[in-house]
This record gives sequence, C-alpha cells and structure tokens, in this order.
Amino acid sequence: MKLFDVYPLYNVTPVKAEGCYVWDENNTKYLDLYGGHGVISVGHTHPKYVAALTNQLQHIGFYSNSVQMPLQVELAEKLGKLSGCENYNLFLCNSGAEANENALKLASFITGKSRMLAFTNSFHGRTSAAVAVTDNKSINAPINLQQKVTFLPLNDIELVIHEIGKGDVAAVIIEGIQGVGGLDEGTTEFFQEVQKVCNKNCVLLIVDEIQSGYGRSGKFFAFQHHDIQPDIITTAKGMANGFPIGGVLISDVFKAKYGSLGTTFGGNHLACTAAISVLDIIEEEKLIANVNEVSNYFMKQIKQIPEIKKVKGRGLMLGVEFDFEVGELRKKLIFDKHIFTGGSNNKNLLRILPPLTISKEEIDVFIKSLKEVLAS
Ligand SMILES: Cc1ncc(COP(=O)(O)O)c(C=O)c1O
Repeated sequence: MKLFDVYPLYNVTPVKAEGCYVWDENNTKYLDLYGGHGVISVGHTHPKYVAALTNQLQHIGFYSNSVQMPLQVELAEKLGKLSGCENYNLFLCNSGAEANENALKLASFITGKSRMLAFTNSFHGRTSAAVAVTDNKSINAPINLQQKVTFLPLNDIELVIHEIGKGDVAAVIIEGIQGVGGLDEGTTEFFQEVQKVCNKNCVLLIVDEIQSGYGRSGKFFAFQHHDIQPDIITTAKGMANGFPIGGVLISDVFKAKYGSLGTTFGGNHLACTAAISVLDIIEEEKLIANVNEVSNYFMKQIKQIPEIKKVKGRGLMLGVEFDFEVGELRKKLIFDKHIFTGGSNNKNLLRILPPLTISKEEIDVFIKSLKEVLAS
C-alpha cells in the first residue's frame, strides 16, 4: 500500500529532536522556528514530559470515557487555574478540528439555531462544521457546503450586528489571532463589541485558540489581550506538545447533558498526562514571561532588516511580511541555513511559531541567517 498523497513535503526526514532543534537522518541539525505547525510548546522531548509519559505508559495508557478519570479532573483544574478560566468546564477530544466541531455543535444545541458567522481568511479545521466555517472553498466538499455559514470581514461590527439581527445565528466563531490566514486579528474594540452583540441576542461567542492559545500570544489565551469572556474557547496544538488532544472550554452558565458530546479516545490517560506535564512546565519555567521577553527582542532585532514590510502577530505567533513571495526564501532557510519556518495563505508572509522555550541567542541565529539569505 502507498500513502494517500495529500501533503507536499520538504525532503527532510527528522529522526531526533530536543528543545528548539531537530536532527535529520544524516545528523544535520535544524533550528525549529515552526514547531510542526505551532504544536511544540515546551520544547521537543522535554525530559519532564518524556518521564511523565513513560511512567504513565507503564501504568495504564488508555481506557474509554466510561470509568473514573482522575487525570481529566486534574487537567481541568490545572488548566482553569493557569489560564484564569476557572468558570469554564472542559470537554476533551483529539484535535483542533474536533474541538471546533464540538463547539459549533454545542452552540447549535444550546441556541436551537444553525447559522454560524465566521470571518474572511479564517481556518478552523477540516471536519464537517469546522471546514464549513473555514474560508477556503478548495477544502470544502459539496457535503460540507450544506452548513449555513456567513463570512464577514474582520473588524466590521456593523455587518456582525446586521447578520445577528436576522435572528437565526447560533454562534460567531473567531480565531484569537488568525494563523493559517496570515496573522490578522480583531481589534480590542471589535472583540468587545462582538461579545456585547452576542450577549444581547443570545448568540454564542466561540474563540478558537487552537493556535493562539497556551501562552503563544504572550497571554495564556490571545482573547485575554482584549478583556472579553467568550462563551466557548477551543484549544489543541500546544496543549500536549505533540500528543494528539483537543479541548473545549465551556462557560459554566451552560449545563452538560449526558450523551450530547462524546468520543472514544478523547481525554485518555496518555493525552491527559502529556497535557498536565505541559501545564506544569509552562508554570515552572515561566514560559509565558519568556514568550514576552523573546518576542520584544525579536521585534527589535527584526527592524535591522529593511526588506521587511511589516511584522504581524503577538508573542511567539509572528508573521514577517515581505513585498515578494517567500516560498524560495523558506527553501533557502531550510536547506542552506537549516532553519524551519512556516508559510500561510498570505504568500508574502514568513510564519514564526517556535517552541515557547526559545532563547534570544536562537533569535540572533535566525536574524543573521535571514540577512545572509536576503543578501544572496
Ligand atoms: C486556528 C486553528 N483552528 C483549527 C485548526 C485545526 O486543528 P487540527 O489540524 O488539529 O484539526 C487549526 C490548525 O491549523 C488552526 O490553526
């Protein structure tokens, strides 16, 4: 059997990783400024994370959601405390798309309505409802297009008010900071006005923190830069440093009903252990403070490069914009300088999503390499 060939791949084969570095099969060392799509939060193969997972595997790796799971309770408590979201309840699943799928379904259950509002250039995943609220026709199959979704431009509150006024909207879904779309974000005023109009009309506000959450923006969740309280928050990527997991944080105003949501694998022993370990490391190593410090340093250093038009994003969720397409630049960074970076829908944007443990010295290596590649 061959693989179903859906991914265009770089010809690099990682076999080992540690901290912010990855090694290929020829023992070439790469600086990882992309963390496998923003997944690596506490650094590759962090010794505490490896020890926690190894120990858990030797006891019990999996049982389904039909028995007591103290690890889920511990994860929910720690997540509530560290994120400042103690007045939410946690539903665990296995990926970002699944988290959004459940969030949208829950909003529809709660409101009894089915139309969703989403934003231009959004990315929320590839499952049924999640892909329908994703602004990319090429990844929506006819079956997905049965969903009722209206896309609006970011930061146009009048259009949001107009659509909600029609009375059939279940939820507004918005990324804390757009990832795949290219690092655009709502203004504080926009987030606050959206929350107000949602509250007034019994429409749920879902903030997708799958990429922007877990400290990446310089606060635990990116919406916390805007002083709002969403009804539902979704999370995944950085949550377990590569172990598949997704989480839906649901305001405790909404009561759970047996059977309304469910999954076989979600919240298993290994996933919870990985996620608890990530929270412990974020707290012990003060990684959110590191994000802010290194981000400020990055912003200062990147100004040395005149070819850069703009730097978008916050914390260590950054987009460096040029006035040319960055495909070739990314290739040179990987193959000549051994540095992984990311791309986005905006072809002129280099996406930077390093582990939250990254140091200023590693940023210096990137800046020096970027200058050399641009000069060549
Ligand atoms: C903001 C956002 N939401 C949802 C997803 C989907 O997550 P997953 O690929 O884990 O299904 C992604 C993935 O890139 C994302 O960036």
